[in-house]
Amino acid sequence: MPKIRFDFNNMMDFNVGVHGVKPSELKTFSARAGKAFNHLTSVLKNRQSRIALSLEWSKLPLQDKKVVASIQRLGKGIADKYENVISLGIGGSYLGIKAAQDALLPPYYNDFPGVRKGSPRIFFEGNNLDPVTLSSLLSNLNPRKTFVVVISKSGETTETKAALELVEAWLKRGAGAKFARQIIAVTDPKAGTLRKKVSEASAKDPLAYRSLPLLEGVGGRFSELNMGLLHLAITGVKIAEVLEGAADMAKSCALADMFKNPALFYASLSVIAYEKKGKPISIIMPFSEQLKSTADWYIQLLAESTGKKYARKVVLEQGAEKWVEDRSDLINTGRTPISARGTNDLHSIQQNNIEGRNDKIVTFIRIEKFRKDLKLPVSDDFLSGRALSGLLKTAQEGTAWALNREMRPNCTISLRELNAYYWGALLFFFEMATAFEGELLGVNAFNQPGVESYKNYMFHKLKKPGISKEVAREIDGNPMKRIKKYIL
Ligand code: PA5
Repeated sequence: MPKIRFDFNNMMDFNVGVHGVKPSELKTFSARAGKAFNHLTSVLKNRQSRIALSLEWSKLPLQDKKVVASIQRLGKGIADKYENVISLGIGGSYLGIKAAQDALLPPYYNDFPGVRKGSPRIFFEGNNLDPVTLSSLLSNLNPRKTFVVVISKSGETTETKAALELVEAWLKRGAGAKFARQIIAVTDPKAGTLRKKVSEASAKDPLAYRSLPLLEGVGGRFSELNMGLLHLAITGVKIAEVLEGAADMAKSCALADMFKNPALFYASLSVIAYEKKGKPISIIMPFSEQLKSTADWYIQLLAESTGKKYARKVVLEQGAEKWVEDRSDLINTGRTPISARGTNDLHSIQQNNIEGRNDKIVTFIRIEKFRKDLKLPVSDDFLSGRALSGLLKTAQEGTAWALNREMRPNCTISLRELNAYYWGALLFFFEMATAFEGELLGVNAFNQPGVESYKNYMFHKLKKPGISKEVAREIDGNPMKRIKKYIL
């Protein structure tokens, strides 16, 4: 077990009264938790099911060391040659690498050459359709000194596709005929427009549009340890250390005993709090500026995985499981995640956490030993000589205490330090906890059907070929009403 401590005391009734979980409730729940554990474990053991149901991410910590070493070399080659990297992608093709960037690279990495120590600056685009950010970036970068990594599992996502076309045109104008040698695509090995583009370009010039495959059965938001590896390599993070932390966490999360398996314990407490104590909101609050983006990554993980309209129905097909939506079982379930950070948001959302509706659980993440620390000058003030890290820890304890006092459930995940190993372990913990939570809620945690509606609307309005008549009829037949008196 990696040295990460999970303290669930403040989720319990003896600390937060009727809003907490009773030990007897946990005991009763253990049968349901055991069932969820057994089912998930059986799926994870079956390669065919794992791939078909998008659970292959669970094997990423143990991926081929030679492949990892070759990605590490590829990244170094890019880092040695270019001053800037633009990373294009959205959702699961963005949030994991942004989380890695902020957690594992020194703060102000992009701002100071001395901090970067020769590695390229990394800019994220394609995660919005906002024209201002991309135009500002392109008008300030030198195309000859810029490399582009485009990440899209499907190869079809509008935001990424639009950004890529603009960046490609910019490179073509500024970097010359061989501009496509400055692009790597991380995408599905076979399907999608991006893969097609890669195959066509590399058939003409093998160095143009090189690519890395996204593994079969690894869904976007669970793919940091696949699609994010090149980014880690470019920025000089040792991929093997991230994977080692994840692999050690995987061992703990494979234990059947809830009291030894942090992911199963966390998911069980969260579901009891959700179903029995009226806690539909989950606030993730790291007390570390560097972990804010990891909290943002978790928001997508929990929201897209467990926020579901219909229950899951398991169907057996030739010995393998198939999961379908049970349209007769409308459940509209899933907790709402919110990311916050200490201490910034103690002067913001915390007022509501403490005195607003008692409908949340707060998960703190804290770091025991910081990479760097600062001591305040000696003075006659009560802060005299104190270390900032100590103040931060006391603020976190104070926040937990204040929540307890108002009977607000909370728990604390403590990392011995923030490095590649612990970050890999933390990521994998959240992935497993989300998978267990999906099982406990009886949903398919590995699809996101709700995301399709806005896309269909856009595609129909933009006249994308291939939109079904049924979808078109639904959109045209249900216009949004616009009554004058409600428009000021
Ligand atoms: O979790 C998911 O699968 C999604 O959030 C995707 O990552 C996101 O929609 C981007 O998709 P793609 O990588 O296909 O461009």
